[in-house]
Amino acid sequence: MLTRAYTITITALLAITASYAQVKEPGNVTAVQKEAQGVKITTANAFAEITAYSAGTIRVRIDKQPLAADFSYAVIAKPETVKTSITESDKEIVLQTDSLRTVISKQPFSVAFYTPAGEVINQDETGLNTSWTGEEVATYKKMQEGERFIGLGEKTGNLDRTGSGYTNWNSDVFGYQVGQDPLYSTIPFYIGIHHDKSYGIFFDNTYQSDFNFGASNNRFSSFGAHGGEMNYYFIYHHNLADIITAYTALTGRMHLPPMWSLGYQQNRYSYYPDTEVLRIAQTLREKQIPADGITLDIHYMDRYQLFTWDKERFPDPVKLTGTLKKMGFRTTVIVDPGIKVEKGAPAFERGVKDSVYIKYPDGQFYTGQVWPGWCHFPDFTAEKGRAWWRREVKFFSDNGVSGIWNDMNEIATWGQKMPNNVLFDYDGIKASHLRAHNVYGLQMIRASYEGARENTSERPFILTRSGYAGLQRYSAIWTGDNRAEDNHMMLGIRLMNSLGLSGVPFTGMDIGGFTGNPSVALYTRWMQIGAFIPYYRNHTGVNTKSAEPWAFGEEALEIARNYINLRYRLLPYLYSTFYEATQNGLPVMRSLAINYTFDPKIYDPQYQQQYLFGAALLIAPFESGKDFGRVYLPAGKWYELYTGAVNEGGREQIIPLSTQQLPVYVKESSIIPMQSQIQNTTEQPSDTLLLHVYNGGVKNSFVYYEDDGISFDYEKGAFYKRSITFDPAAKALVFGKADGSRASKFKYVKLLLHGFEQQSWKVKGKSVTAKEEACSFLHSISKFDPEKSAGSVDTDHVKTLVIANERSEISIGM
Ligand code: NOJ
Repeated sequence: MLTRAYTITITALLAITASYAQVKEPGNVTAVQKEAQGVKITTANAFAEITAYSAGTIRVRIDKQPLAADFSYAVIAKPETVKTSITESDKEIVLQTDSLRTVISKQPFSVAFYTPAGEVINQDETGLNTSWTGEEVATYKKMQEGERFIGLGEKTGNLDRTGSGYTNWNSDVFGYQVGQDPLYSTIPFYIGIHHDKSYGIFFDNTYQSDFNFGASNNRFSSFGAHGGEMNYYFIYHHNLADIITAYTALTGRMHLPPMWSLGYQQNRYSYYPDTEVLRIAQTLREKQIPADGITLDIHYMDRYQLFTWDKERFPDPVKLTGTLKKMGFRTTVIVDPGIKVEKGAPAFERGVKDSVYIKYPDGQFYTGQVWPGWCHFPDFTAEKGRAWWRREVKFFSDNGVSGIWNDMNEIATWGQKMPNNVLFDYDGIKASHLRAHNVYGLQMIRASYEGARENTSERPFILTRSGYAGLQRYSAIWTGDNRAEDNHMMLGIRLMNSLGLSGVPFTGMDIGGFTGNPSVALYTRWMQIGAFIPYYRNHTGVNTKSAEPWAFGEEALEIARNYINLRYRLLPYLYSTFYEATQNGLPVMRSLAINYTFDPKIYDPQYQQQYLFGAALLIAPFESGKDFGRVYLPAGKWYELYTGAVNEGGREQIIPLSTQQLPVYVKESSIIPMQSQIQNTTEQPSDTLLLHVYNGGVKNSFVYYEDDGISFDYEKGAFYKRSITFDPAAKALVFGKADGSRASKFKYVKLLLHGFEQQSWKVKGKSVTAKEEACSFLHSISKFDPEKSAGSVDTDHVKTLVIANERSEISIGM
C-alpha cells in the first residue's frame, strides 16, 4: 500500500515538473545597460528593453531571443525627449520620469509602475510575471482591489470588463450574437481603473491575442499572444481623457472628415439599377429628409468583380454620380479585397503581372472563395500591393465616387479558414497568416486612403469593417452585420463607446439592423439614436423589407425626419467636436467613463449605455416600446434638451418615455453652436450662428471650428477657429480672437441663453436688453399624440441677443 502511494506521488511530481518545463520565464537579471531614456536588460532566459516614450508612457519589450529590429503598423510616434533618471541597486532598477516610477525587480525579472508618490498603479503578479507557454507569450498583472477594465475596441459585453476574457482574431461574423467574441477588428488597448487612478496598456502584437480581466480566476489580469514578442506601452495620467490622448499620440489621430460624411447616409444591400438609386435620392428630397450620401453595395459590380460596373444596371456611372452630386448626394461604393480570378480581366491581370497577391510558400497565389467566386487577395502588407491598389482605386474617383467602403477585409472567405501557411510580405519582414491576419484590414484601408488622397484633392471618406490599432488614421469603422433587435441597438452603442475609448472617434452601426426586420418602434428609436452617433447610416441586408425612413408609416417618418433635421442643425457643434478628435484623439461618442471615471453608478449595466455626444449632450438610449425608463445623471446640473427643465445630478431617476422623443440632457455651462435647417451640407445655412449657452456653476470653454469642409486647405491655415468661454464666476462669456485665414460663414451670432434670469447684458461694455423667446429643438408631431393639442411642441424659454461675428475678442457681461 505504502509503495503504491509512493509511486503515485513520484509520478505526479514528474508530471508537474514536465508541465513546469513547458512554461518558460525570463528568470533573473544578468546584465543591465543604461541608455538615455531606458534600459536594455539581459536575463537568464530573455532579453528586455524598457524605454520612456514620454513622462507618462513607458514601453516594455521582452523576448526569448535578442530583440528584433523595431517595427509596428500601429505606432507612428518616436520617443519624445524626456527627463529620465535611472538608478540601479542589487535588487532593482528604477526608471523615473516626472509622472511615473517604473521599478524593474532583478530576482526574478518583473515590472511595476508607481506614482511619483509611491502608490502602486500596476504591477506584475508575483510568481507569474511574464512567461512563455510554447510560442505563446503572456504578462500577468496583479488584480488590484476593486479594479475595473474598459476599452479593448470592438468588444461585446459590459462597459466594465472585469470578470471577462477576450480574443483578438478579426472575424467575419454575420448576424453575431450579443455576447460573441471576437468580432471584426482588433484594438489591443485597454484602461484599468482602481483607487482613484487609471492607466492604459497597449499590447502591440498582431498575432492572435488574449486578454483576461479576471475571467475564471481571482488573481490577475493578463494579456498575451500566440506568437511574437511581449511589447506593451504603459500609460499613466490622472485624467482618463489624457490616457486616450497619449494612446492616440502613439497610434495617430483621425484626419478631418469631409463634411458630407457627417450628414445622413442612405444605404441597403443593394440599391440597383441606377433608376432605383435616383428614386431613393429623389424621394429623400421630396420628403424633405436631409441627406448627403447614397451607398452602393456589391450589386453595382459586374458579377461582383472589383473595378467594374454592371453595364445593364449602371450603364453610365459618371452621369449617375454627377446627377447625384447636383442633388447634393455623394456616392460611396463598397470594395472587397477578393479579386476575381478571371483571365483577361484588366485589374486582375495587372495584379498578376505585378505579382501583388498573397502566396503559398511554394510561390503559388492563394485562392479563396468570396462573392465573385474564386479570388486572389492583394498583399496590402507589401508596398507593391498597396501601390497597385492606390492606382486601381483611381477607378472610383474617375467615376465620380467620393467614398470607399472596405468590406470583408478580415479577410473573409467562404469556409472562414484561411490557411496559416499563406505568406505576407509584412513590409519586408515576411510573415505568415498568423502574424499578418489582424493587420490585413488596416493595411487595406491605408492603401484605400492613400490612393484616394493621390487621386483627388478632396478629403477621402473611407469606411471599414476590419482593422487594427491605429485604424483611425485612415478610416471610419462600422460594427458589421448586426440584427434588427433591441439588444443589438444597445450593444452597438457599447461597441462604439468602447471603440471611442480605444482611439477611434468615427464609428457607426447599421441603423435599423442588418439582418431581420425591425418593428416600427425599434426603427424609430434607432433613427433617433443615429442622430447622435458619428456615422449616421441606415443599412439593411439583401433579403429584408425596405428600410428607408418612409417605409414604416407616417409617424415613424415624421420622427425620423425630426431627428435628422436636428442632426443637421447641430452640424457646427458636431464638426467642431470632430476637429477636437483630430487634435487630442478624444472620441465624438464619449462613454461616461471618460468624464466620470470614478463614479461607480455609470458602470451599472442599466446605465452603461449612456454617453456624451461631444462635450455637452448626454444621450440616454432606451430600448423601444417602454413607457418608463431609469436614467442616471452624474454630478452636476443637467437640462432636459426639449424643455430646459433642470435636474440635479448624482442621482438615479425614473422618467416617462415616448416613441417621439429620445431623452437627451445638456450639461450645465455647455456651449452648443447650431445653424438653420439645411437639406444637405452643400446648402448654405442662414448667416446667423445659433449659439446655445446653458447657465451653470462651472467654467467651460468650447473650441469653435469651421473650414470649407472638403479640401485640405485647412492644412495651409484656411480655417476659422476661436474659443468661446463661459465663466460664471467672472459673469462673462468671452469669444476669443478668431484664428486662421478664413472668414466665418456666419455674419452674426445669435446667443440663446438657457437658464439665465437677467434681462440686461453688456456687449463689449454697452448695455443691451435681451429678448425672450421660445426655443424648440423638435417640430411638433402632435397629430400622432392624443395627449397633445395640435401645434403643441416641447419648448424651452431662452433669452436671446444677436451680435456681429467680429474676429476680434468679444466680451459679453451678465
Ligand atoms: C457584408 C457587410 O457587412 C454588409 O454590410 C454588406 O451589405 C454585405 N457584406 C454585402 O456586401
